[in-house]
This record gives sequence, C-alpha cells and structure tokens, in this order.
Amino acid sequence: MPRTDTACIPSASDLATTIEPLPVPRAGIGRQTLRVGLVGCGAFARFSAAQYRQIPDVRIGAVADIDPAAAGRAATELNAEARPPDAVCAADDIDLVYIATPPALHHRQAAAALLAGKHVLVEKPLATTLADAEELETLATNRGLICVANLVERYNPLARAVHRLIDSRILGGLIHGMFINEAADEGLGRDHWFWNRDVSGGIFVEHGVHFFDLVASWLGRGTVVCAARSLRPAPGAPTENGDHGAREPVEEQVSCTCRYPADGCGDWPALPARNCPPQGGVLFHFEHGFHQPSRMDRQEMRLVFERGELRLFDWVPTHGELRALVDEDTVGILARMLPGGAVCTMDRYAGQSRRMRGRFQPFEAAAVVQITYNLGLSKLDLYAQVVRDLAADQIAAIRDPARGRTLTEVDSVASVAMACEADRLAMNGD
Ligand SMILES: NC(=O)c1ccc[n+]([C@@H]2O[C@H](COP(=O)([O-])OP(=O)(O)OC[C@H]3O[C@@H](n4cnc5c(N)ncnc54)[C@H](O)[C@@H]3O)[C@@H](O)[C@H]2O)c1
Repeated sequence: MPRTDTACIPSASDLATTIEPLPVPRAGIGRQTLRVGLVGCGAFARFSAAQYRQIPDVRIGAVADIDPAAAGRAATELNAEARPPDAVCAADDIDLVYIATPPALHHRQAAAALLAGKHVLVEKPLATTLADAEELETLATNRGLICVANLVERYNPLARAVHRLIDSRILGGLIHGMFINEAADEGLGRDHWFWNRDVSGGIFVEHGVHFFDLVASWLGRGTVVCAARSLRPAPGAPTENGDHGAREPVEEQVSCTCRYPADGCGDWPALPARNCPPQGGVLFHFEHGFHQPSRMDRQEMRLVFERGELRLFDWVPTHGELRALVDEDTVGILARMLPGGAVCTMDRYAGQSRRMRGRFQPFEAAAVVQITYNLGLSKLDLYAQVVRDLAADQIAAIRDPARGRTLTEVDSVASVAMACEADRLAMNGD
C-alpha cells in the first residue's frame, strides 16, 4: 500500500498563526524558465510531468516521494534531482510545486509550499474538507500565489463548445442534465488508498469534484439537493498485510442531484443574483460507480434542452451526438458549433406539421436531425492535452498576473464545497 507520511510538514495550528491578513498582488516572473518540483511520483504525477515538460520554458527541477524507488524512477525519467518532500516544498530553486500525493495529504503539503512562497498546482481534490480548501485559498491569495486543483475537464474543447451551445439558447433552455460514470476498478486493488475514506475523502471528494467543476463552468454555482451511496460488502477474511478494504465494506457507488441557476431560472421573480429558486433551475444528476473491468469503463453525459438532447461520451469527453429539432438556419450553426459535426436528417416537416408545442409554448421546426461530433483525438491524447493546457494557463498567469485564468482558486474550492456537501448528505442517509 502506498505510504502517506505527513511528518515533514507543518500542522494546522502552525499554519493558522502564519496566515497574513491582507491579500498581496501577484508578482509575475516574466519569461524566465519556470522550475517545477513534483511531490508524489505515482502513476498520475508521471503522466502530468511528461506533459509539463512540453510547455515552453518549463523544467522539472526536483522530484520527491516517500517511496525512494518511485522518486528514483521519476528522477531518471524527468532528468531531475530526487529530494525529500519537505525540501521540494521549500526549495529556493523551485517556482511551482505540483502535488500529486493521495488526497488527505494535499492540504498540508500545499500549505507548506505556499508558506515557502511557491505557486502550487495540486492534484484534485484541492483538499478533503471545505475548511482546508478555504485555508489554502486564503494562504495563496494573501501571498499573491496561485493554488489550484488539477480540474482538467473545463479545458476540453468540447466543454467549451457545450458552454457556447448552452449560452446560445439555440436549442432553447437547458432543462436537466445527467452524468453516469461506470468506472473501472481493475487497477484499484483492495489495499489501494482509493477505498480508504480517511485518505481519499470518499468518491464525491476524490473523483466527483471533476464533474461538479465542469457543470459549474457551464451553469454557475449549484446546490446539492439529495445524495446517496452504496457499499460493496467486505469480501471475507482480512488479508495478511492488514489492508482496509478486506475487513470492511467499501464505498463503491455514489449519486446525487444538484440544482443550478440557469436558463429556466430567468423568469422567477426577485431572485438574488446567481441564486437558485427553491423549486426551479436545472436539476443535474451525478452518478459515480467504481466496479467495472477496465475494458467496460464508460461514461455518458446527457444534457436535455427544450428542443434537443446532447450526449457526450468518455470521461474527458472526446465525442458525442445531438438529436434536435431544427429549422433551416439553425442546423448549419449547430453543425459548426460541434467539432467535426456531421448531420443526418431523421425526419422533415412541412406546412402544418412544422408547428409544435413544448413547455406551454408554440414553435416551428423543419426537421429532426442527428449530429455526430468528434474531436478526432484518442482518449489518452485528449487527456494529455487538457493536463498540458491547464498547466500552461496557470503558468501564463504566473508569468503575467494581469492575465485571466480559465480555472481559479475559487473554482477549486467550490468543487470541494459541492463534494463535501454531497458526501455529508450521502453519509446521513446510511
Ligand atoms: N486530475 C486527474 O485527472 C487525476 C487522475 C488520476 C489521479 N489524480 C489524483 O492524483 C493524485 C495521486 O493519484 P495517483 O493515482 O497517482 O496515486 P498513486 O498512489 O499512484 O501515487 C501517489 C504517490 O504519492 C506518494 N506519497 C505518499 N505519501 C507521500 C508523502 N507524504 N510525500 C511524498 N509522496 C508521498 C506515494 O508513494 C505514491 O508514489 C490523487 O489526488 C488523485 O486523485 C488526478
């Protein structure tokens, strides 16, 4: 089992006394080479670091892992020096610390790096509690530093296309959405930290944050209405190494419904800005289960509009399809909005049959079409691209603080807030 040693970093009470009261503006580092230090050299860190090296004027300066073999392997691969984790967090020759350890370590390691004056990119989740996530945001803001979680979904070109589609209202208002994640657990043995809620924070926190963030990037801040979870029974006798999953049931499915203030909210009277009406808005259902063989790993997002339904496939979506009622003008616009859009007309309407109704409103349509779209990238290539683009966006803002970013500390904290609330409601229902 991966070790999770936290001895080298300051305690929460150490941090509390060090937080500065006033925000400091960020100072840019211009075009000089940006030196990245890796803390945690597991599977995902090595994938990410390989992408970071492709960003111009970025160098991996040092790596750290409590497992010397993992640190040594990453050091060789990345042509970097292996050092102890606390040394990387505080090193003078490091500008940005990338933390890719198990989630329960993120807060303390990110705080140590921020206190040493480093910008921080933390693997998701930013932290496993809302208080810890907010503390990191405060520490970063007060020191003029960046500290975001690696929430890559909003960097997908398809996510941006969907955002434009929602905002255009070309299919009318968005009514509801759903994300179904039937994920593989083949690489997650029973002794993996993923199943240990004390380390992972639970599925909503460890994994759900990605999709809370994606939907928030489209619809703004949501609220969790209800949530539930399901446990996989303990498989029997404990294993010799005393692992967690063998003795206790593990959380293998979670689901929740959230409410977002979007199109459908527009006509509700006297709503405070960005607040959901108590019984209106967009309902979005999220479901995450980790129980499939790798070859059956699959995800589907559905967005139901007044005059069409969009589906996206894969966990960082690469392709999908849209079925919609269109007129002569909208079909071309839609096909251009969706990358690689190919239109197939399913049915045509003329004369009186063009007239239809929905949600108490009359409207006309000339046809039902199905548009298939595809980024033309493999899952892995797209994953690599979004990891690179997120880091490049943050690094550009480190160089030039006046530049805006697609993802901020506030977004990173908001995803933890949604996840912790969903987790709380799911645990209450046990
Ligand atoms: N953004 C994404 O799409 C994405 C995808 C996969 C994983 N992740 C996240 O990346 C993080 C790591 O996941 P992983 O799958 O690579 O896990 P992993 O178990 O493969 O790697 C974790 C590494 O951290 C090391 N470690 C443990 N305690 C440490 C400490 N105190 N100091 C330094 N190193 C320590 C372990 O030895 C191990 O090498 C998690 O937060 C996970 O949620 C993000």
